[in-house]
Amino acid sequence: MDRTLGVCYYPEHWPMDIWADDAAQMVKAGLTWVRIGEFAWQRIEPAPGVFDWGWLDRAVEVLSQAGLKIVMGTPTATPPRWMIDKYPDMLPVDDQGRIRKFGSRRHYDFSHLGYRGEAVRIARLMGERYGAHPAIQAWQIDNEYDCHDTTLSYSDAARVGFQDWLAQRYQSTDVLNRAWGNVFWSMDYDSFDQIDLPNLTVTEPNPAHVLAFRRYSSDQVVAFNRAQVDVLREFTKAPLIHNYMGRITTFDHWAVGADLDIASWDSYPIGFLSDRLEGTPQEKQRFLRQGHPDNQAFHHDLYRAVGRGRMWVMEQQPGPVNWAPYNPAPLPGMARLWAWEAFAHGAETVCYFRWRQAAIAQEQMHAGLLRPDSAPAPALAECKQVARELRSLPAVGCAQAPVALVFDYDSAFAWDTQPQGADFDMFRLAFAAYRALRKLGVNIDILSPDASDLSQYKLVLAPGIMHLRNPLRAAIAGSDTLALIGPRTDTKTVELSIPTPMGPNIDGLDVTIALTESLPPTDAITLAQGGCFKHWFEHLEGTAQVFETTTSGQPAIMGAKNIRVLAGWPDDTTYVRILKDHCAEAGITTHDLPEGLRIRDTDTHRFVFNYAPEAQVWNGTTIPAAGVHWEAL
Ligand code: GAL
Repeated sequence: MDRTLGVCYYPEHWPMDIWADDAAQMVKAGLTWVRIGEFAWQRIEPAPGVFDWGWLDRAVEVLSQAGLKIVMGTPTATPPRWMIDKYPDMLPVDDQGRIRKFGSRRHYDFSHLGYRGEAVRIARLMGERYGAHPAIQAWQIDNEYDCHDTTLSYSDAARVGFQDWLAQRYQSTDVLNRAWGNVFWSMDYDSFDQIDLPNLTVTEPNPAHVLAFRRYSSDQVVAFNRAQVDVLREFTKAPLIHNYMGRITTFDHWAVGADLDIASWDSYPIGFLSDRLEGTPQEKQRFLRQGHPDNQAFHHDLYRAVGRGRMWVMEQQPGPVNWAPYNPAPLPGMARLWAWEAFAHGAETVCYFRWRQAAIAQEQMHAGLLRPDSAPAPALAECKQVARELRSLPAVGCAQAPVALVFDYDSAFAWDTQPQGADFDMFRLAFAAYRALRKLGVNIDILSPDASDLSQYKLVLAPGIMHLRNPLRAAIAGSDTLALIGPRTDTKTVELSIPTPMGPNIDGLDVTIALTESLPPTDAITLAQGGCFKHWFEHLEGTAQVFETTTSGQPAIMGAKNIRVLAGWPDDTTYVRILKDHCAEAGITTHDLPEGLRIRDTDTHRFVFNYAPEAQVWNGTTIPAAGVHWEAL
């Protein structure tokens, strides 16, 4: 597999007479791919049914003649203003019932079937025009589903769609009433058209109602994407891609990914650290100009799995972004490190966002590879360096990981709905487990909750999976793979009620979560073997063996055969200690990594990344701040 670089480009933002020079410079910088088109609907169709393809035809010719491969984006994240006149009710509605207006982007409601038809129409027109063009070697559908919180919309279109979805799922309101437990507070319904969206209720709505709406909303993202997939497949054999985001759990990426050929994601390490991740002020300061040392790796591993082995970074931060509360510049070297880390995790392509910093509109403070005046910005030299290095380093492959981590969007919907403690968040819990594994220097694969074969793994973690699906439940019970489940795993039915017998319910394991506590940040449950649980603690009962206890003698880890149940949410150092023991038991080699260093093994090489703001030593080699080192295995 060739590993390549690319860039995001907006020809419509720049005079036509500089396109050829831009293209030549891209090729000279070592770029292979250029992504265009994804916000250009108004320029393509300035009025309903009136088209101006000339400029886009020309851009495609100029870029392809320079030797670039093109990713063509469907422009459905930015419907033109005239579309709102045609469908005033296509605008999304927030949970307070307020319409979200035109004037930025993503101003559409996934449930609006009129707009969905328009999206299919423009995708068809683009497919007809460019589907067979030899330079168009990939397609991006829409742009960043859920960006700006757009999965959930409380519109009339959503209400009608939800009622229909409920009728199909439950067939009768009796079944729905029983499944949701509507006898509680006299919430029973007599017909599906009585069921409103679960916002603006007097107090909290029934969690089963909210979960159903979350599932419905996720299904609309899948359907919106699939509608474009179906039409593009008529015209092209090129891979179809979507660019997912970091830490988005509002729709089921496994389901969207099943319809696509490659999963890509948009990596803004510094923006994410300040805007989207928990962390102490000290950690945020230490990694201010590098980003969190595990966040990029987590998403590479996640999306590699969502893409069934095919993953790209469609947008890579090159310098300061414009959207976080504060926007520092990366340390020199980070634009190179991030690209190499992506490649070491299996990325086929890394595209920097964007070619030239815009001088206009919302993102004029967002860096590119070039400054607005076309002079090189700092990341350009690093991009060129990566291009040179890619030529000299042979394909490295992507090694089989010994550890798997199950990640489930449905559980994220459930725990958003019923957090029980203010800190309980699915991403946060899974990321805590992932961070601990990374500190031990092991490769990690992320698995969907539909996984049914664990035989390639020595250790599998399944934290916070609200309801184990039967194939995974059977795989855990029936394999030799050491499985560490919990906290909060297999504690609910699919309808978010408490099962009898109470969970977890795995053959051969007699452990019951008898009582659950959530803890404020000021509290902790200390463990006899050292460390503590934060946020969450479960009182375990049963005849299974007790492997660890709290200092007051309650079980902290219980289990039987290959299965262990973790009773709480370990803090960072405790998670490392616990997982080190489990790796040892499973026969997995771990490492004691210097602070800020992370490693990733490929088939042929070990890569070492220094996220620390100072040099670190790895096996006698000094790696500078923001440095990358690789050695043959
Ligand atoms: C992404 C988006 C791009 C651009 C970028 C800025 O979320 O896909 O269009 O807005 O952020 O960082």
